[in-house]
Amino acid sequence: MSEPVQTPQTQFQPRIFSGIQPSGGLTLGNYLGALKRFVEKQDEGIETIYCLVDMHAITVWQDPEKLRQQTREGAAAFIAAGIDPKRSILFNQSQVSAHAELAWIFNCVARMGWMNRMTQFKDKAGKNAEAASLGLYAYPALMAADIMVYHATMVPVGEDQKQHLELTRDIAIKFNNDFGVNFFPVVEPLIEGAATRVMSLRDGTKKMSKSDPSDQSRINLTDDADMIAAKIRKAKTDPEPLPDTAAGLKDRPEAKNLVNIYAGLSGQSVDQVIAEYAGAQFGTFKPKLAELAVAKLSPITTEMNRLMKDPAEIDRILGQGADRAEAIACPIMEKTYEITGMIRSRRG
Ligand code: AMP
Ligand code: TRP
Repeated sequence: MSEPVQTPQTQFQPRIFSGIQPSGGLTLGNYLGALKRFVEKQDEGIETIYCLVDMHAITVWQDPEKLRQQTREGAAAFIAAGIDPKRSILFNQSQVSAHAELAWIFNCVARMGWMNRMTQFKDKAGKNAEAASLGLYAYPALMAADIMVYHATMVPVGEDQKQHLELTRDIAIKFNNDFGVNFFPVVEPLIEGAATRVMSLRDGTKKMSKSDPSDQSRINLTDDADMIAAKIRKAKTDPEPLPDTAAGLKDRPEAKNLVNIYAGLSGQSVDQVIAEYAGAQFGTFKPKLAELAVAKLSPITTEMNRLMKDPAEIDRILGQGADRAEAIACPIMEKTYEITGMIRSRRG
């Protein structure tokens, strides 16, 4: 695209939005790359809006009953990890129709050429892109709408979402230019910490994912202590001991992943972990990592299980969150319709 003119961004107050798909149980990757950082942002006192993006989930087939269950489980995971539904807004996407409405407008702003470059679509569509849903192709425009419908300025995500956030910026800039306004903020991705890309425990070159067919490849937030320890014990490694410097992890994807996970869980830097374990064999390091993972994740799992016993309470929290989200989104959506030339004579 041609280089657009960027307008000053001073008018936008700091606001965080992020989302997770309820397309399966959450993994350690979601926890370290997203959830843990969502909690940190909330605790820093920034306005935070967090969403279970059920409409993104259905871009690939979801069994309806499972989707409902996974959405509640996702909400329970957010709360168990430290999201306070009073301080943050927590809801599921489909309850606030403004997401879908703005997504349509963004479908008309985004260009086919931009969408064609999205690597997540290529990965998810696989060899048979002809059989992928139209929704999967338009997915990033809905994601841009999720963020822009709140005028959010910062988005904490894992590394894999970087390209989608660049597209979000392009859509906002093109909308502003096309209509000669400074209406949508140009969002800043927050991709921070030691574990922005947690890899599979079976293959250090593949992302840890809730959709990986092998359960051994990931740690689920619902795994019990024995399961977590067993998966770490069996995690793929190389025969070398841990190096003396972080640079020594280069070309050792499995070793690097386990060190990153340790750093992410303990809140240390990779250098600090390496300083502590330089020269250690995996026979020593893995039990330490398992102990740490169990210590950090078990309380979350226990709390999730407790919350899941009262699904009506979870639904109530999501409903209240949706009301609060809608109160922010509605005026922004109305203004968007006005800018784009739609008659809105039913309301004031
Ligand atoms: P998803 O599960 O695809 O909806 O992802 C929700 C959030 O978790 C996004 O911010 C992702 O970037 C993040 N995430 C998912 N998998 C990983 C991973 N393996 N490592 C780090 N972050 C991840
Ligand atoms: N696409 C994100 C993922 O799969 C989920 C998502 C949807 C999201 N809408 C969002 C993340 C808005 C951040 C902001 O990980």
